[in-house]
Amino acid sequence: MASIDEIHSAQRAKGPASILAIGTAVPPNCVKQSDFTDFFFRVTNSEHKLELKKKFKRICERSMITKRYMFLTEDILRKNPNIGDFGANSLDVRQDMLVTDVPELGKEAAIKAIDEWGEPKSKISHLVFGTTSGIDMPGADFQLTKILGLSPTVKRYMIYQQGCFAGGTVLRLAKDLAENNKGARVLVVCADSITFGFRGPSENHIENLVGQSLFGDGAAALIVGSDIIPNIEKPLFQILLATQTIIPDTEKALTLHTRESGLMFYIEKEVPHIISKNLENVVREALQPLNIYDYNSMFWMVHPGGRAILDEVEAKLHLKPEKMRASRHILSEYGNMASVCVFFIMDDMRRKSKEQGLSTTGEGLDWGILFGFGPGLTVETVVLHESGHGFDSQRVQLLRGRLLARRPGGPSHQLSCGGGLGGVESQSKRGA
Ligand SMILES: CC(C)(COP(=O)(O)OP(=O)(O)OC[C@H]1O[C@@H](n2cnc3c(N)ncnc32)[C@H](O)[C@@H]1OP(=O)(O)O)[C@@H](O)C(=O)NCCC(=O)NCCS
Repeated sequence: MASIDEIHSAQRAKGPASILAIGTAVPPNCVKQSDFTDFFFRVTNSEHKLELKKKFKRICERSMITKRYMFLTEDILRKNPNIGDFGANSLDVRQDMLVTDVPELGKEAAIKAIDEWGEPKSKISHLVFGTTSGIDMPGADFQLTKILGLSPTVKRYMIYQQGCFAGGTVLRLAKDLAENNKGARVLVVCADSITFGFRGPSENHIENLVGQSLFGDGAAALIVGSDIIPNIEKPLFQILLATQTIIPDTEKALTLHTRESGLMFYIEKEVPHIISKNLENVVREALQPLNIYDYNSMFWMVHPGGRAILDEVEAKLHLKPEKMRASRHILSEYGNMASVCVFFIMDDMRRKSKEQGLSTTGEGLDWGILFGFGPGLTVETVVLHESGHGFDSQRVQLLRGRLLARRPGGPSHQLSCGGGLGGVESQSKRGA
């Protein structure tokens, strides 16, 4: 008879989780940021609020966003004036749109990810769905299972109402599911939409203007799995470590409350400064086991909550401007799509790396870091290893063992990544 240890270990995968495919989607309606001020004040019947309009124009100009995509159109907003009317009851009409739009956009992204993965969707064993846009039962995870035609036995996890950091949360959960369930293939989907929080301007709520200038709609999907099927599955990035941290005493800095008038944003001006000030510790702790101290030797995927967040993180960590290229590009082309942004950044990075003939999916570098930020203030940190070309699974396995050993409760002695591994620091500069 098999021992309990044998039964337990037979249920777990052997290797670390990898991202096997990425798909993205946006709604068809594209809004140019240069036209948005006029659109916003016209469609919310606020043309008479001249000072607010000038201020909003300044915020839009400072956002470094070129365009965004939205389900909401002028036609929809004219037919549903309560959505644009600050404080008017509008939750029902928003919910009615989102219960369909969120899973449908997620489906579009999921189809692309499954197509790239190349395996039948019947092999998807788990579904993780993240959104802050609407709440419903049965949820967006159920609706997606139905419209995508996934197996009724797929194991679903719904990550509702986490805000912008949820991109890191779903990746962390997918890693745990893939590594602890032999043969698991996890479909990860995030979809967010400003339909939940769009509203006209008010003199009494300037922070609302900041939210209106930033947020856009989008969806992204990934396939995550361990123990890759050779010559069939092509890993893009390995997920080596995933953590979540609350920044102490910052609970009120960024809050999003669901009201009868939809999702209401409260964003303190200090948010970019608070994040950058606290990020250094988070980065140092995450990278210590890998002996990476040169942050410019890595690729960076930073949630672009707003231009000022990227500016402050870049300055505080002394990052070269090119480290933020992908994050700034996605902010410029799509705005802040909340949980979805980090996956657009990941997709852009692996595509550009290939186009430019770089040796890895991570801009020619081996190691990278992904950050999600959001209410709490909460930081999600994910350490990634490229696995697009020539990845050395044995070396990554060894490093994974070291990362696990350094977790609370594990051995506390200092471990070196040099010696037999060839040194992470020197390897991570390949192709830079
Ligand atoms: C919004 C943003 C693009 C504006 O750029 P900026 O470089 O700060 O520009 P400014 O300082 O000139 O601000 C523009 C105006 O917006 C106001 N403003 C900026 N942030 C504000 C906030 N959080 N609340 C209220 N007003 C704000 C400023 O007071 C200023 O008003 P003024 O022109 O009347 O003086 C930038 O502040 C940003 O990226 N913020 C981060 C947003 C954020 O925290 N997102 C988190 C979501 S995950």
